[in-house]
Amino acid sequence: MDIWPAAIPEPETLFEYILQELACKKDLAGKKVLVTAGPTREAIDPVRYITNHSTGKMGYAIARAAARRGAEVTLVSGPVDLKAPLGVRLVPVISAKDMFDAVTSVSAEQDAIIKAAAVADYRPAVVSSEKVKKKDGEMSIALERTDDILKYLGEHKKENQFLCGFSMETQNMVSNSRAKLEKKNLDMIAANNVKEKGAGFQGDTNVLTLITQEEETSLPLMSKEDAANQLLDKILMLTSNQN
Ligand code: CTP
Repeated sequence: MDIWPAAIPEPETLFEYILQELACKKDLAGKKVLVTAGPTREAIDPVRYITNHSTGKMGYAIARAAARRGAEVTLVSGPVDLKAPLGVRLVPVISAKDMFDAVTSVSAEQDAIIKAAAVADYRPAVVSSEKVKKKDGEMSIALERTDDILKYLGEHKKENQFLCGFSMETQNMVSNSRAKLEKKNLDMIAANNVKEKGAGFQGDTNVLTLITQEEETSLPLMSKEDAANQLLDKILMLTSNQN
């Protein structure tokens, strides 16, 4: 009798299964968590777009950590070079409009929404259907605002739903982030200063400050995986206080 599976999973996949099944406490079991990650791309014409430096690493780390801890995770992701974490429902999107549609179609049923994506604030007002040809002299592109997904979620927050935003600043990090917490009706905002060593988009580490109405928790430099778990710990603590 042939009991050997047709394809043996890669060692890292096996390791991930073991971690998921055995090594993690399941303190998010029964919770639905929506995470957004990565940049968005706003088309100028069929060959060009506006985007930013987001790699998606922070959002993917949060989605992975939440899945390991037993949550039912949906990950709405802009274009990134990362594999979907095991056990996570991945919804790939391109533009801010796509992300708005994907997020709002499932947001009502979520216990927690964590918006780590770096969504474009502006998009070209007109998308050319043909490649724009160069001309002599300067050129400019008219931009219009995209919908603020997080603000929309704050305005339509369900009872007992926890809403966490991200804020990336280069100056006045705490006051600017607090302003976003208020304006978007968030329960928490995870702030980082891109100018700080080890923080921001590119690397595998981050330096987060978790800000709520009542408190500020400054986390030291740590891996994005550890930062993800600390962020989830904080959400669990705050939501168990509520209930
Ligand atoms: N966000 C969003 N939809 C947008 C823009 C941002 O949901 N159209 C979310 C991001 O996912 C993130 C948070 O809002 O969680 C960032 O807040 P935002 O005010 O957009 O930050 P910045 O763009 O950095 O703001 P500013 O340019 O004013 O510094």
